[in-house]
Amino acid sequence: MQKIYLDNSASTRVDPRVVEAMRPYFAELYGNASSLHSFGREAKAVMDAARASLAANIGAKPQEVVFTSSGTESNNFALKGVAFANRGKGNHIIVSAIEHDSVLGPAQWLQGQGFDVSYLAVNEDGLVSAAALDQEIRKGTILVSVMHANNEIGTIQSIDELGKVCRDRGVYFHTDACQSFGKVPVDVHAQSLDLVTINAHKIYGPKGIGALFIRDGIAIMPWQHGGGHEMGLRSATENIPAIVGFAKAAALCVEEMDAEDARTVALREKIIDAVLDTVPYAYLNGSRQQRLANNISLGFSGLEGDAIRLLLELDELGIAVSSGSACSSNGGGHKTSHVLAAIGLDAVRARGALRVSLGRFNTAQDVDIFLEKLSEVLRSLKPLTSVLI
Ligand SMILES: Cc1ncc(COP(=O)(O)O)c(C=O)c1O
Repeated sequence: MQKIYLDNSASTRVDPRVVEAMRPYFAELYGNASSLHSFGREAKAVMDAARASLAANIGAKPQEVVFTSSGTESNNFALKGVAFANRGKGNHIIVSAIEHDSVLGPAQWLQGQGFDVSYLAVNEDGLVSAAALDQEIRKGTILVSVMHANNEIGTIQSIDELGKVCRDRGVYFHTDACQSFGKVPVDVHAQSLDLVTINAHKIYGPKGIGALFIRDGIAIMPWQHGGGHEMGLRSATENIPAIVGFAKAAALCVEEMDAEDARTVALREKIIDAVLDTVPYAYLNGSRQQRLANNISLGFSGLEGDAIRLLLELDELGIAVSSGSACSSNGGGHKTSHVLAAIGLDAVRARGALRVSLGRFNTAQDVDIFLEKLSEVLRSLKPLTSVLI
């Protein structure tokens, strides 16, 4: 059976060009970038070049990019590091209600440490209003964190407007760009960004490598102590193969962004139109316009509680999709989506969605097969409300 992978928001296949770029750094050029001998100097030179290339892709200076192990680590570092370094200025932090768990988790933990956290509401498309953000900022606000694009519903925020509000009010602005980087432009100057989280495994690079952009001059407390790697901000021997792969993956995405965007949007629109036109009880979650090119979040009235079943039946037919975010399956049990609840869906609808996320290696044929299999599965599931509508 031919398998079709439509879960590119969870992770992506590593591009063969990235694998090639990484290959020499496992068994041939394996030095430690902190060593003084030629192996070490070579590793350091390669790492410096990768850092400079990655930085250039977001309009940053090389020394403003700190490598981490993941998007999760970068988000933890941004929130906890800024919170503790700026305690003297205030204790108020603002995050949006639809953040990834790797922002919500540290935010909740910080509440336990005496910080005050506000959760910004979003509208039915999942958008944060710049005016609402402006109102929420008060004396003592030290940090705002609003994700660039949402991992469940694909909504892309007007990040430049939010950044401008924070800049005008003198508050640090962090954005989690794990889902947007490589798909839409991220420019730390044009978008007034102070801290940006990115990772490699969403952009056809390896897992276990991420980065945090930290604007020069931002007060941030190191979170991982040791040998003083990464400009003293994040100790640990740098993962050279992964860093090389990350930079290569990012460069390819940026180079190919326009063509890939047009191609993916066409595939996305084909799926959305086909499903909404042929399944009367189907609906789309998130903004139709301000949406990632690769995200389709579908709800099926009457089948929300069956989202996992739908996913597993498609899996039986060789189609890999998600019931929301990949992380929602961690820790057992399917929980209500905080993102679907935040865009105003009722408790039933917030229980599940079918997230189809396209990627570089998907073809028009994949889309046709998916549509065929989806209608097969939907016919067999017979939603209760299809008879009610
Ligand atoms: C928006 C967002 N932020 C952060 C992460 C976490 O990144 P990582 O898997 O590298 O820890 C993810 C991945 O699921 C994500 O989608």
